[in-house]
Amino acid sequence: MDIMKHDIKDINLAKGGKKRIEWAAKDMPVLSLVKERFNKQKPFKNIKMAACLHVTAETANLMRTLKAGGAEVMLCASNPLSTQDDVAASLVKDFGIPVLAICGENKEIYYKHLRAVLNFKPVVTMDDGADLISLLHSKFKSWALNILGSMEETTTGVIRLRALEKDKKLMIPVMAVNDAKTKNLFDNRYGTGQSTIDGIIRATDILLAGKNVVVAGYGWCGRGFARRAQGMGAKVIITEIDEIKALEAAMDGFEVMPMRQAAKIGDLFCTLTGDINVIDKEHFKLMKDGAIVCNSGHFDVEINIKALKKMAGKVRKNVRNYVDEYILKSGRTIYLLGEGRLINLAAAEGHPASVMDMSFSTQALAAEYVVKNQGKLGNKVYNVPENIEKQVAKLKLRSMGIGIDKLTPEQEKYLKSWEIGT
Ligand SMILES: NC(=O)c1ccc[n+]([C@@H]2O[C@H](COP(=O)([O-])OP(=O)(O)OC[C@H]3O[C@@H](n4cnc5c(N)ncnc54)[C@H](O)[C@@H]3O)[C@@H](O)[C@H]2O)c1
Repeated sequence: MDIMKHDIKDINLAKGGKKRIEWAAKDMPVLSLVKERFNKQKPFKNIKMAACLHVTAETANLMRTLKAGGAEVMLCASNPLSTQDDVAASLVKDFGIPVLAICGENKEIYYKHLRAVLNFKPVVTMDDGADLISLLHSKFKSWALNILGSMEETTTGVIRLRALEKDKKLMIPVMAVNDAKTKNLFDNRYGTGQSTIDGIIRATDILLAGKNVVVAGYGWCGRGFARRAQGMGAKVIITEIDEIKALEAAMDGFEVMPMRQAAKIGDLFCTLTGDINVIDKEHFKLMKDGAIVCNSGHFDVEINIKALKKMAGKVRKNVRNYVDEYILKSGRTIYLLGEGRLINLAAAEGHPASVMDMSFSTQALAAEYVVKNQGKLGNKVYNVPENIEKQVAKLKLRSMGIGIDKLTPEQEKYLKSWEIGT
């Protein structure tokens, strides 16, 4: 049994981590209000919670919020490369929250941490990509009966959990936090859009203006990234498999074409699909010398790195931080960023706090809902209740000093009626 109190890189990094956590907190006013209320009402008294999330300053503030609500929390990473080691140190030292995460940990340690978190016997869990719940359903089945519910933060995780539900194998209630409008409309679009650009620029320092940037996937993340790359002067090309999304991209003014065609002209490629081998062997063969390839989708499967490795006569690791050079047998060079893992978290700091304010307030309130409704939820994937979304949006608007109109009684009546026409 893996029982660990914490496993982090270096506790002496705590000072820098604390500054980061406090800096992020300033841009998380909605979460602060939730924290204040939780502190008074203690909705998580006697509740053990385990979170498998990117260990960032924003996540640290979510952990503090849950703890303020009375929960005993434990945190591990949802990606081996996304941990901010100083934040992990500060959570342990300054906030008394056990963390099991080290940036760059290998797969074996990654899963050792996940197992240790489940051995802590949590009754509420949080995932970003469904690795913890997947482990619960394979190696910790007997504990699943004790779980009141779980929150899922990202598109890929929700897809995996819905597949589990469809196979009638889901053993716990799940809240699809990703599918809340207060999450994906903002975090996936504006958060991923900006932080993916940030990660690419920090890794490469390239100028985007004038470059042919190929964006695979025109979902929430793809839309956000494409629009921002275009805003910086790039000529953006979209690849899609969905007719409607492709049409939307075309009418938004982007060039749309299959990857085989785009592969020949792209200077920079970014996958944001949640799919596998979107950039494959056949595409590498067609790419220009010096093409840069990266991913901002959840798992490192969107680019076929195995095929790239096979095609390379020579691989030079780290020609810059987060940049590996693959010299193909044909003589052309391809640069892979962040080992194909989410570039915004590997090379940059993930989403800005202001957007995570909404995602994590939705997470915290969804967790409260699960605890309040214990025993009443079935083993299903649930949408976050609309009143939670509305509450988060209302508080965010208020924090931004934005007022909106209210329906007059006449308008309310009109919108509910069918009698009045031309
Ligand atoms: N980097 C981050 O911080 C971050 C944040 C949120 C979500 N994500 C992840 O990003 C991925 C995308 O999330 P989303 O919310 O945009 O999902 P989405 O479902 O809104 O969009 C994905 C799009 O990719 C398209 N697609 C699928 N296979 C494709 C292929 N082979 N070629 C081209 N297009 C293809 C789909 O048709 C869809 O339009 C997921 O893995 C999600 O978990 C990452």
